[in-house]
Amino acid sequence: MAAPEVGIGIVGYGMMAKAHSYAYTVAPVMRTLRHRPRLRMISGRDKEKVSRAAAAYGFESWTASWRDLLDRRDVDIVDICTPPGTHAEIASAAAVAGKAVICEKPLAVSFAQADSAAEAVRQAGVLNAVGFNYRRLPAVSLMKRMIDDGAVGAVRLVRAVWLSDEFVDPSIPFDWRFDRSMGATTIADLGSHLIDMATWMAGGIAEVSAQSATFVRRRSNQDVTVDDASSALVRFETGALGVFEMARVAVRRPCDFTIEVNGDRGTLVFEYPRLNELRFGDGADRPGLYGMRTIRAEHESHPYARNWWPVGQGVGYGASFVNHLGALLERYPEGPWEPDFAQGAAVQAVCEAIERSAAERRWVRVSEITAGVGIRP
Ligand SMILES: NC(=O)c1ccc[n+]([C@@H]2O[C@H](COP(=O)([O-])OP(=O)(O)OC[C@H]3O[C@@H](n4cnc5c(N)ncnc54)[C@H](O)[C@@H]3O)[C@@H](O)[C@H]2O)c1
Repeated sequence: MAAPEVGIGIVGYGMMAKAHSYAYTVAPVMRTLRHRPRLRMISGRDKEKVSRAAAAYGFESWTASWRDLLDRRDVDIVDICTPPGTHAEIASAAAVAGKAVICEKPLAVSFAQADSAAEAVRQAGVLNAVGFNYRRLPAVSLMKRMIDDGAVGAVRLVRAVWLSDEFVDPSIPFDWRFDRSMGATTIADLGSHLIDMATWMAGGIAEVSAQSATFVRRRSNQDVTVDDASSALVRFETGALGVFEMARVAVRRPCDFTIEVNGDRGTLVFEYPRLNELRFGDGADRPGLYGMRTIRAEHESHPYARNWWPVGQGVGYGASFVNHLGALLERYPEGPWEPDFAQGAAVQAVCEAIERSAAERRWVRVSEITAGVGIRP
């Protein structure tokens, strides 16, 4: 018998809309899903571009207004792939309309906005998830599982760095990414992924001390209102120490992120350019084996590996979206989904603490950001 269908509506038609459409198309090919996603409608402000995207991505229909998605009874999940400054309004309206909501990261451009979106989905009682897709790369997921299983012992140090060269060229024209109120910060754009992975593996962050810089201050005769690069010292609630760096001005570093965890018994290192591998230094190894071993995170015993190719073939960026959206569909409609909006808002609070710390040149406790607004249980 054919699996029942779940109707998908995507807001936006840019790179993430393409990645998500690809994932909805490929997920049922790679794994058995209880619900088969059906690409019902895509929205975008430019009619010509959105109609072309609808045809290319395999949607049945398109619209120039995202509100049309909310009126469609055959759209069950609204998937938001527009700039961060639009997320909270669309997500809250979709929740009120009773839709399950998937939203790209960062959840919003401020903690207050992120918290209002989290509150809207909580009040509506709808499923909700944030696009922290890198959690679902097999090697990153394996890293989390090994930490939970005690492979490194008690976590003492976390190092997370994301280098991109997206903003190096000063002639790149102004667009939403350079506008604080629409694109958020580099801290939120790149750092939200790092903070999500780090807190997933090592628990909550208590306080931060950060610095930021904008090297190219004007583009297309407009003021750039976001940071080009930021870095932060962080202290986890457990007492573990962390160092984070996120930069969009690192020449010839296209999308290079690294996350390393040092515990009292071992070390784990993930480096995105070698995304099918995980490096493990085991303090219990015989002295003659001193060093780091490389695990191929493709064995059928590893997370998500059974859904993909035989060991040795590897996966790529697209697989992170297939795994992420596939995992959400597998739990549709009963849930729970994760990472959810509450987790997205918690990440946003850390982003904002880093931003405030850099602006005010002092240590900032994350509770300063959440106080008064509060992450609700
Ligand atoms: N998870 C990931 O790996 C990943 C990677 C890239 C981007 N993202 C996130 O996805 C989101 C979209 O990024 P993208 O790379 O697809 O961007 P994009 O520029 O390729 O596409 C953005 C889409 O939003 C529309 N849009 C632009 N400004 C708008 C506005 N003011 N109001 C309504 N719609 C508007 C555009 O027309 C387009 O359809 C962002 O939140 C970004 O941070 C996530």
